[in-house]
Order: sequence, then structure tokens, then C-alpha cells
Amino acid sequence: MTIPEVVRHEALKSWISEAADLVKPDEVVWCDGSEEEYDRMCEALVEAGTFIPLNPELRPNSFLARSDPSDVARVEDRTYICSLNKQDAGPTNNWMNPREMKNILNGLFDGAMRGRTMYVIPFSMGPLGSPIAQIGIQITDSPYVVANMKIMTRMGFPVYDVLGEDGEFIPCMHTVGAPLEAGQEDVSWPCNPDVKYIVHFPEERAIWSYGSGYGGNALLGKKCLALRIASTMARDEGWLAEHMLIMGVEEPSGQKTYLGAAFPSACGKTNFAMIVPPKHFREKGWRVTTVGDDIAWIKPGDDGRLYAINPEAGYFGVAPGTSYETNPSAMESIKENSIFTNVALTDEGDVWWEGMDGDLPAHAIDWRGNDWTPDSETPAAHPNARFTAPASQNPVIDEAWDDPVGVPIKAFVFGGRRSNTIPLVFQAFNWSYGVYLAATMGSETTAAAFGQQGVVRRDPFAMLPFAGYHMADYFNHWLHFGRNIKDPPRIFGVNWFRRDENGKFVWPGFGENMRILEWIVNRAHVRAMGVESPIGWMPRYSDITWDGLEEFTKADFKTAMSIDKDDWDAELLQHDELFIRLYDRIPKEMLAIKELTLSAMWRSPDQWEMEPDPT
Ligand code: OXD
Ligand code: MN
Repeated sequence: MTIPEVVRHEALKSWISEAADLVKPDEVVWCDGSEEEYDRMCEALVEAGTFIPLNPELRPNSFLARSDPSDVARVEDRTYICSLNKQDAGPTNNWMNPREMKNILNGLFDGAMRGRTMYVIPFSMGPLGSPIAQIGIQITDSPYVVANMKIMTRMGFPVYDVLGEDGEFIPCMHTVGAPLEAGQEDVSWPCNPDVKYIVHFPEERAIWSYGSGYGGNALLGKKCLALRIASTMARDEGWLAEHMLIMGVEEPSGQKTYLGAAFPSACGKTNFAMIVPPKHFREKGWRVTTVGDDIAWIKPGDDGRLYAINPEAGYFGVAPGTSYETNPSAMESIKENSIFTNVALTDEGDVWWEGMDGDLPAHAIDWRGNDWTPDSETPAAHPNARFTAPASQNPVIDEAWDDPVGVPIKAFVFGGRRSNTIPLVFQAFNWSYGVYLAATMGSETTAAAFGQQGVVRRDPFAMLPFAGYHMADYFNHWLHFGRNIKDPPRIFGVNWFRRDENGKFVWPGFGENMRILEWIVNRAHVRAMGVESPIGWMPRYSDITWDGLEEFTKADFKTAMSIDKDDWDAELLQHDELFIRLYDRIPKEMLAIKELTLSAMWRSPDQWEMEPDPT
């Protein structure tokens, strides 16, 4: 094995050499992260049948991949947090004794790359050299992963310069778990259909992933490093690693306010991060820009404010439902230089998915490679089909998105998908209430994700599948963190998904969310009005700008904002269920706030409504 000169880190060299001894590849390739290497990788993927080149006139330098039908999403039941102590992983994570798990993994990784190439990927999560960034080194036998990591991270040799001789890095071991015996033909999407393990060793800060080539299971910088391992580092070191988008809201005066927002998976984070304000707002000079669409790392700065970076460099977004109507900036971001996975292929050689603009194609090839027509009974694109696109192609990218210092965060927004109970928008009374609000966030499952529709799944901070330690310790970390910052960001709850008694969405959502965002920004700067409800501060009808949305009436607003006592009795009981689950470590503030909310609710009428509007 020839080691490039730029690698001067002895511990890293020994780790790679031990890893190679274990997985026994035919060859080791040290990825340099160059454009030429990316092009070579794509060519090889085309050759192997993994990539189908798209029509260069319609979608330049872009490719379609079809995964094995068994390898289409994250595998939460195969995801482990192997802390030394079981209690530290908490009841919401799978756990196994780290020594026992290492034994299993060593067995599985032994010879796992036979007949394949082992790639060594150096990557930085966050701008290279930023005080908030972290370095990871991933080994993988998947060229698809190499190509995706090039888009999703800052990947390449300069990472070794930052690392120097003894810098810290997170070792990430990945194999698709499909060794090739001598003479055996490869398949277009190698993976292990029977055995998958996505394993984190939080004390050792190491990641081992076996058997899957897909998304969050295989691009280890994303969920594994930037959330599960980073959340543990953040707890130990006094910062936050969150499942949050980061956006900038610029007012007509030119003042810019940055917010972080956490929504559970499949609740439209990418759409919100790239929101197009309605015409009235655009004309007045409001502008929204994207710093990130999925993950935020947040550290207190010397001035006492919180600074956030997006550790990623690309978007790994859900394709179905993305269109010029729902998210024009995402559509612009994926015009070229993009990888599509499990979408449909049109006869013109372009991509298509359910919910894209325009007419349905008369014929396409579906994500499994079969003929598809509008009469087909199965979808053309898999519901979790993805695009991988460079963030730099987003036309509304924030000018500071790549700034190593990060952007100052003024507010946090939390929201799930709830057809009832949770109002359109409300502001927590203070930081602790905000932590409570986020901790008890729930979201109705969609059929695509969990099989059963409409059941509320508690997803604290949208971190249930991503917290690398005990969820109650995580709440405590947030409470503690808030005590030590000078001017803590204000915390808001939103619910874009409320329905009326006929099951119809009350709120139009998408760009119209800007109206709510305006109130949030104003409240964050202590400028806007609000009234006190049993669960927090709320805008009155007159506190929101309605120009251009006159069809949304005062009565609609009442429905969207109402708080029903029966619903809330049930809601608080469900909070209790979560707290009982986490009882061994639940912070006492959580229980106290629940009591206070219960008492506020008990004092209010059956159906809490705004005071009569003064205007
Ligand atoms: C994602 C997720 O892929 O949250 O971002 O599942
Ligand atoms: Mn996500």
C-alpha cells in the first residue's frame, strides 16, 4: 500500500493499515477529492451499471442509480449505540455491549472487501479548519458512496493538512458486505440483503456500518457522524449537534435574522429551508436564504451568542413531492451535477417522480427498472427516492453558508405533522418551556415511513433516531446549555399540518409559512405583539400580515390556532408516557412544566380562543 505524502498522521496510517488487513480488499485507493477523481468514479459507476447517465442536454453531468429493492432507507432497528453502559444509550436506542458488538463486526468485516477496492475518504464536516468543524475518515468499498461523499462533504487531501500529525478524526468503517469470490460477477447495487449493522461507539467516537449502500446508512458523515457521534461530543464539550435546518430571514430594512428549525424526517425541512416568500413579501424586500437543510452544529461564541454551521456541503433530499411549485430552489439545485437514486427514468433520459410539475409521462422506467405508465399500480419513484446535489447550486444559498465562524442564531422552531391539538404557531414562555415543547414534539407517521398512518410518534427535538445517548440526558444538556448563554434564542412551536373537521388542511403551508416566520422573527427581536395562552405566547389575527391571502379568514385562523382541552388532556397523558419511559433520568423541570401546563389548561375554557381582536 502506497501512502500519499500528504498523510502525516501515524495513528491514521496504522488504523488504515489494520482496516485493510481486516477487510482484505484487492486494492486500496486514497481519494484526493478532485473533480477528475469524481469524473473517474462516475465513469466507473456507469461501466459497472450502477449509474445510468442522464441526457446531458436535459440534466448535464447527472446520473441515476437504482438500489437493491431491499436497500432503500435508513434501518433504525439495525442501528446501535454501543456505549460502555447500557443506561447511557437510554431506552430509545438499541444497545449491545461494545466488546460483544466488536466481535460480531470483526467477524463480518473480515474479508468483507475481497474482490473489491477499499477507498479511503478524508472529509470535513463543516468548512475546512472551522473551529466548529470535525474531521472524519471513511473507508468504503462503494464507489457510489465515494461520489456522494464528494457532494455531501468537504472531501479531499486538504483535510490531511488540517489533521496534521496528531489531529483528531472520527474513524468510519463502511462496507456493503458483499465480497466477490474469484471470478464472481458483481451486481449493480451490491449490499447485504440479510445482515445490516449501523453501529456507533460513542466513547471511542467510532462508526462501523455493514451491509447497506444507501443514504444515512452509508454516507457516514451525515446521520452517524454529524448527529449520533457529534451529539455525544456536543454533550461532553458544551455545544449542540441538531437535526435542524438553518435559514436566514432578511427584512426590508436589510436586517438579517438566522433561525434553526427542527422537524421530524419527511415534514418538509428542505422546503422550509428554501421557502419562497409570497409576492407581497418579495415586493417589500423580504428574502429568505438557506444555510443548511438538515443538520446544524451550534457553539457559543465569545460574544455570548450562539453560532451555527451546516456541517454538510450538499443536499440529500427526498425527491417525490419536490417541484417548481413546492420548492423551486431545490429544483434549480438539481438541474445539473446531481445524483438521483430510486427515481424514475423518462423516455427522454431525464428523471421523474410523483409530484413533479407538469403532466405525468406517458411511459417511464420505474425505480425497479420496470416499464411504468400512469395506469401502473405502483409508484414510478420510490417514496424515499433521493437527489444528491451540491449546496452551492442552490440559488438562495446564504452568503455566509460557508463561513467558518457560522451564523448567529436568534430563534429555534420545532414542529411536527399534527392534524389536531397543536396550533399553527406559539412561542414558549422561556427556554425551559421551549425545551419542554421540543422534548414532547410528536409527529403523525406517514404510510411511506412506518406502515401505519396517522399514529403520533413522539420525536423529541426530531432527534429520536439520531441522539447518540440517553434522550433524558439530552434534555438535560439543553436545559443546562440555556442557563449558560446570555441571550438565549427564543423557542417556537409550529404546526403546518392541522386539519379541520372535514379532514382538510387548514393552513396552505409552503410559501405562506413566511407570514408565520415574520411573526417569529419579530417576536425573536421582541418587537411583535402576542397574547398569553395556556401553552405559550400566540399571535392574534391582526399580528400577522395577510396581504395576498385574503381567502384565509379570521375563522380559519381561529381553527388553526385553537386549543382544545380534551385534545390537550390526551396530549399531556402522552407526554407522561414518554417521561415514564425516560424516568430514570428525566430532568425535574420537565415534570414541573407539565404540571404548570396542566394547571393552566385546567383553568381555561373547554376551547381556548383568542381575546376578541382589538382591530
Ligand atoms: C434524512 C432523514 O434523510 O431525516 O434527512 O431521514
Ligand atoms: Mn434528516
